Amino acid sequence: MPNYAILGSTGNVGLNILRTLADQTKSNTPDRLQIKAYVRSKDKLLSLYPEASTNQHISIFAGALHDIDNLGRCLDGVDAAFLTVASSDNIPNTTIAQDTARLVVEALAKLRKQQNDRYHPPILVVLSSTSTSEYLSRNDGLSSFAHTVLWKAASYVYEDLVLAEKILRSYQAEHRGLFRMAFVKPGGLVVDAKQGHVLSTEGSKTFTSFADCAGGMVEIAASPDPERWDGKEVSVNSAAPNGVALTLSTGFTLMWFLLQGLLFHFVPQSYKWVKG
Ligand SMILES: NC(=O)c1ccc[n+]([C@@H]2O[C@H](COP(=O)([O-])OP(=O)(O)OC[C@H]3O[C@@H](n4cnc5c(N)ncnc54)[C@H](OP(=O)(O)O)[C@@H]3O)[C@@H](O)[C@H]2O)c1
Repeated sequence: MPNYAILGSTGNVGLNILRTLADQTKSNTPDRLQIKAYVRSKDKLLSLYPEASTNQHISIFAGALHDIDNLGRCLDGVDAAFLTVASSDNIPNTTIAQDTARLVVEALAKLRKQQNDRYHPPILVVLSSTSTSEYLSRNDGLSSFAHTVLWKAASYVYEDLVLAEKILRSYQAEHRGLFRMAFVKPGGLVVDAKQGHVLSTEGSKTFTSFADCAGGMVEIAASPDPERWDGKEVSVNSAAPNGVALTLSTGFTLMWFLLQGLLFHFVPQSYKWVKG
């Protein structure tokens, strides 16, 4: 009974999840496959993925995340919800992941109250980063200096992800049976073709494509054993033996991301100057 919600469907990862699931609607998947795409802007989604308006399996939910009723309609009855709302920039004091976690739990708690025995707890497949896991990143091939630089370049993003995970873990303990959750913690992600993915609770590998990360998240969501990934941190790695090779343009993008992130870390006011 595959029925999925994607929060952040216009993002690198969210859009790849939408594409991956939409592709399944064209193969031999049961008719009941339903994909609910939550976005801030329907126009943006349709410009990135026009098929979202013609594929009968896709419903679009546009609005602010704070619209709990809209969010609740999107989450109603789903088997899995992909939480990919994120900040890629190192925005000082961002709380986007924490806000998403709180709002999703609030919407689910409201649904359970309304539905009682009919309530169907989904698994939340939460996009995070291997940098937030000492265990997964212990053997990722990066030096401790590189880890330190990375932590500073994405300090606000990672702090937000760590706190969001704490919030979800404590909500899950408090509201038993409301949801299951898996924290997806890939290493570096880049734009590249699908090469196949491997899920791992033992370690992460850099680089993996956004498309393969999406494939791994869909595999978690579709697991026939609902307990299989509950509470786990899972890395999605490229199935290619040496991961995805970095192109020159991706290398420049990465360098820009690091420099900008370091600037925002050490001089938070500069975010306004640079981003306006
Ligand atoms: N890049 C990497 O190497 C890498 C590696 C591991 C983990 N990660 C993690 O992946 C995440 C970034 O994922 P991504 O590249 O898919 O991000 P992205 O492309 O920037 O997408 C972010 C999504 O979140 C939505 N969003 C942002 N702020 C929102 C808000 N206030 N309300 C509602 N929606 C909002 C965006 O909507 P709009 O389109 O409307 O803006 C978009 O759909 C980060 O947490 C990062 O730590 C990244």
